[in-house]
Amino acid sequence: MNAKIISTGAYLPKKILTNFDLEKMVDTSDEWITQRTGIKIRHIVEDGESTSDLAYKAALDALKGSDLSPSDIELIVVATVTPDQPLPATALFVQEKLGAYNAFGFDINAACSGFMYALSVANAYIKAGMVKNALVIGSEVLSKIVDWTDRTTCVLFGDGAACVLLEAVEDENKGIISMVMHSDGRYTDLMRVPAPGSAKPCSEEVIEGREIYIKMKGNETFKMAVRSIASVSKEALDLVNMDFNDVDLMVSHQANKRIIESVAKRAGIDEDRVIVTIDKHANTSAASIPLALDWAYKSGRIKEGDVILLNSFGASLTWAAGVVRW
Ligand code: ACO
Repeated sequence: MNAKIISTGAYLPKKILTNFDLEKMVDTSDEWITQRTGIKIRHIVEDGESTSDLAYKAALDALKGSDLSPSDIELIVVATVTPDQPLPATALFVQEKLGAYNAFGFDINAACSGFMYALSVANAYIKAGMVKNALVIGSEVLSKIVDWTDRTTCVLFGDGAACVLLEAVEDENKGIISMVMHSDGRYTDLMRVPAPGSAKPCSEEVIEGREIYIKMKGNETFKMAVRSIASVSKEALDLVNMDFNDVDLMVSHQANKRIIESVAKRAGIDEDRVIVTIDKHANTSAASIPLALDWAYKSGRIKEGDVILLNSFGASLTWAAGVVRW
């Protein structure tokens, strides 16, 4: 059995924050953000929208593009670093909102590689014959863990959710044909949200010290990203005896346009075969790859039989790649 993506879905909050809006909030400029990252706008939640609200809407959109109804769904995996609350898992709130009571669900935290990790887990369940289908969702409300006074991070992130609906197929050449995952716990200080957690429970001290917000060593992370994404992509292609020439489309985690361009250059993939959505979505962590995939699919960039290379890099550190034959 293989796991095939039979439909995609997405949801972006209505409110848009432009680089010009950010110019009024911190010492930054549209020019700096555009040149250094490629970001022009980001979507931000309002009216108390939570990660599960976004995930639910993305899942509904994916179901709309299929013949399945919520009661047919057997597994829900939500990748997120911004769960609705520490307990229970966000996947269970999504299950309740969908009414998908025949499914079981859980969350995955692998930062910006979260969607790839979630995809690999759902793929393994399907390959093992334990489920026939799965909703794999990346959903984030990063605006709640961004320090809006820190110009080095607040310009980078956005909110959003996207989903792929996987179904078991007998054709071993279709669907997810290769996945490779990596992590390295020696670099946990490159990017983190230090509190609240069991090591540092919520207190006035952690709030005053702004430890509840994202801290990132951007430049060091950048350097590691390009090398890691290129090498894990080669590993994933090697597993199925392919190389970068076989790739019809590369859909990467959207953290920085310059990272994506450097990886493509290293791999010899021309820009026509690269999806860039960071200008519209900014970095939405676990939601960024499925958002880019949904955008590519719905704008006609993906055809039946295409070989899609997915790759990601996230805190701190996780990186992964996968090959999908559409
Ligand atoms: N506006 C204006 N100036 C700024 C801003 C800003 N928003 N932010 C930083 N600067 C300044 C810095 O203070 C610095 O000034 P200095 O030279 O006077 O000290 C200068 O710009 C250059 O700063 P760098 O950090 O060296 O800039 P860089 O070119 O590396 O770009 C960025 C920063 C965009 C963060 C980049 O390093 C990056 O994209 N890193 C990778 C991020 C990533 O992949 N993260 C992992 C995934 S995210 C996840 O897992 C959730």
